[in-house]
Amino acid sequence: MSKIIGLPSHFHDTGTCLIIDGEIVFAEEEEKLTGIKSIYNQEIWPTKTLEVIKKEFDTDLESCDYIAQARPYTLDQRMRKFQSMSAPPEETITNSFKNKLKSFSHHRCHAMGSYFTSGMEGKVIAFSHDGAGVRSSGKVYLCEDGRTDLVHSQWVGDCASIAGVWGRCTKSYGWVQLKDEGKVVGLVGHGKPNDIIYELLSKCFYYDGNLSIRGAGWEGKLSLVLDHLKENHWFKDPQKRADFAATLQKYAEDLLYKLFTDLHNLYPDYRKLSLSGGLFANVKINQFINNLNYFDEIFIHPAMGDAGLALGAAISQAVELKEIKKPLKLDHVYLGKSFTEEEWTEDTSATHTYPDYSINVANDAPPLKVEKFDTKKVASLINEGHIIGLVIGKTEYGPRALGNRSIIVRPTDTKTHQKLNQRLHRTETMPFAPSVLAEYADEIFECPKSKYTAEFMTICYDTRDEWVDRIPAVVHPIDKSARPHILKREANPLYYDIIDEYRKISGLPIVLNTSLNSHGHPINNYPHQALKLLMDGCLDFVVNERKIYSLK
Ligand SMILES: [Fe+2]
Repeated sequence: MSKIIGLPSHFHDTGTCLIIDGEIVFAEEEEKLTGIKSIYNQEIWPTKTLEVIKKEFDTDLESCDYIAQARPYTLDQRMRKFQSMSAPPEETITNSFKNKLKSFSHHRCHAMGSYFTSGMEGKVIAFSHDGAGVRSSGKVYLCEDGRTDLVHSQWVGDCASIAGVWGRCTKSYGWVQLKDEGKVVGLVGHGKPNDIIYELLSKCFYYDGNLSIRGAGWEGKLSLVLDHLKENHWFKDPQKRADFAATLQKYAEDLLYKLFTDLHNLYPDYRKLSLSGGLFANVKINQFINNLNYFDEIFIHPAMGDAGLALGAAISQAVELKEIKKPLKLDHVYLGKSFTEEEWTEDTSATHTYPDYSINVANDAPPLKVEKFDTKKVASLINEGHIIGLVIGKTEYGPRALGNRSIIVRPTDTKTHQKLNQRLHRTETMPFAPSVLAEYADEIFECPKSKYTAEFMTICYDTRDEWVDRIPAVVHPIDKSARPHILKREANPLYYDIIDEYRKISGLPIVLNTSLNSHGHPINNYPHQALKLLMDGCLDFVVNERKIYSLK
């Protein structure tokens, strides 16, 4: 039985994890502990997440049994990258640890991380696709009860990538590649596909009939198309911005339809699909695939992008050791850092310095009103329309806040989107998403299958007509879709009970749930960050499992 630390291998989305005797006990992204978005803080050694592993599990690189990583470009390249940082010297890892250093391919980590957390029994296709992950932008594995066979790889050298295309288009909107792709997805429902642009995109890249997306010189051709659109003001005019997003989505879905049709025809007995890689951060694409008749169930790994690679690598090693034999079903993804009362006091008494601000809550905060935690009190605050920040238990693994580092608001007001964007200084284009009590999910949403993946908020569903006007703050205003977090009580009893108390007051078993952060920052992990949001007027209340904080 082993302790396996998973390390990042890539220049962005750094994070680590720990698997002990086949059980995932820790997984967190470094950005949630540095307070600086990964995209603005690349090529860092995961010092802070390794500190948590040391402190809470008395395990470090020296004492663990294996260090697993997604294979970098080459080991030397990776070491050179980390050597220039506050990292262990090159010889420490390459020499001291080389006997326990295990590397797996980028897309194997994506695919295994997803398949072995899918809970899926029997025949499963594990499919990965991203912008580019070390010579490949996607792989296909046939899996059955823990056995996995690679049957296809899409090589970067001669293939295009839908995720790569999406990233380049995100830049043309003036947004940040690898961070803001979701904002383009948020525009999709507001636009209509344009035939001429669709035709232009089809000249850049296309489905080749062999499970790959191709297009000789696609990057240059796409640049020409995007430059032409820019000159014609397509990225300035609001309707044209939405129309381009709708065209891009339609073309991507049409390519994937052809690809998954072929995949189904090749392997008709495989009716379960686990997905991973940055493309599947696109919740509308996930909804599209879920609606295909080819699959009875789909699953998207909670950290579908490169933040999931460390766990994918550690899982791959645990599988090789036969300490994980079959797909696990995750009860939850609260796998990060939590705070005891003492740690809360320590954190809010210390000075914390970030690139854009410095704070010492004990010194800087205006007088705070502190009340004892009470579920009914929090529920009544939701019902009154307050904006509430939650810092409960352990931080979520992955890009979604699922109640422990969330901001929650009642879902009943049409102007909440505008209000939250103003208060949080955000520019969200996607509708805010809801947390819904599991027992009521079918009543509110059309979700006949793949509900397990919705426990991690990775897929959209259509909202039932009779609910659209009752919960407008969490439903897309045009296409009436929503991206629910389906919440079982056993996953998070305290969060469940807050929503259930709100249900008793309002008749609504659902609240708006967005991540605890303001514009440009990662999901906030620390108490002082939540209290800063309160001090800055972003929140009305901060709640932990012991207390309720507000400004006097
Ligand atoms: Fe990747």
